[in-house]
Amino acid sequence: MTFKEDALKGRVAIITGGGGGIGFGIAKAFASAGAKLVLASRNPDRLEGAVKEITELGGEAIAVQADVRNYEDVERAVKTAVDTYGALDIMVANAAGNFVVPAAEMSVNAWKTVIDIDLNGTFYCARAAHGALKASKFGGRFIAISTTRALEGWPGCAHAGAAKAGIMSLIRTLCGEWGPDGIRCNTIAPGAIGDTEGVKRIYEEAGRKELELSSIPLGEFGRTSDIANAAVFLCSDAGAYVTGADIVVDGGRNRSRSST
Ligand code: HXC
Repeated sequence: MTFKEDALKGRVAIITGGGGGIGFGIAKAFASAGAKLVLASRNPDRLEGAVKEITELGGEAIAVQADVRNYEDVERAVKTAVDTYGALDIMVANAAGNFVVPAAEMSVNAWKTVIDIDLNGTFYCARAAHGALKASKFGGRFIAISTTRALEGWPGCAHAGAAKAGIMSLIRTLCGEWGPDGIRCNTIAPGAIGDTEGVKRIYEEAGRKELELSSIPLGEFGRTSDIANAAVFLCSDAGAYVTGADIVVDGGRNRSRSST
């Protein structure tokens, strides 16, 4: 454990997409730092396994089946957190969907589907959590998971790139509107994180792994724990004066590509 075991003691967090990948990495780190968790996901089987693993690690977590495209589902997750644990201090809007298809071949429904999950879903998380985060005795935290690919063009992923860029703008607005409520709003912008299904599909299965690796100054893919560490920092007292930021965790790729 990188942080003190009580870094998030007493805090209650919802993590959407918390059943696997980056979301589950954040869940494990939050539990190790003393937070109580509500894991939200569309997939009940993944959720069950994730809650079991957190519990076996000595953490506290419950599952809520939710599709972030349905505002009522997100509201129910917030209500469950408050009813079960008495508060909601942290909302991590992590759930995302993505697939590679050139813009000229992308169906309108394909575009809408990803915008709905990634951008609309993030707004729903913020909107539904606002009242509870404002009431947090620790100062609420809203974190949205973006990507460094939103800072540039993302050939093959026009929908996800646009959605994630929208998320970055949303966070800047929320920072201004919700600062007076004590709510810190930030994005974490991961680069390619090797132990995720998304990167396996987009880079490894597409035969682009070596090309992508060669563009990363640190020369390796990140790990879900790298993103989780940034999330713990932002949600702990150490992150109390950070709001409106994009915390870039990408091995340097966005700042200075290794390949020419
Ligand atoms: C072209 C596709 C497609 C594909 C779906 N569509 N997959 N088009 N290529 N591979 C189109 C469908 O044809 C349909 O349009 C529309 O999108 C909706 O598809 P559905 O399957 O009905 O949607 P749904 O069941 O809601 O699932 C959508 C999804 C799914 C959640 C995005 O693709 C999915 O489960 N993906 C895996 C989960 C995931 O994406 N995880 C990684 C996220 S993070 P039509 O016109 O036919 O009706 C990530 C970060 C990477 O990716 C970062 C790298 C740096």
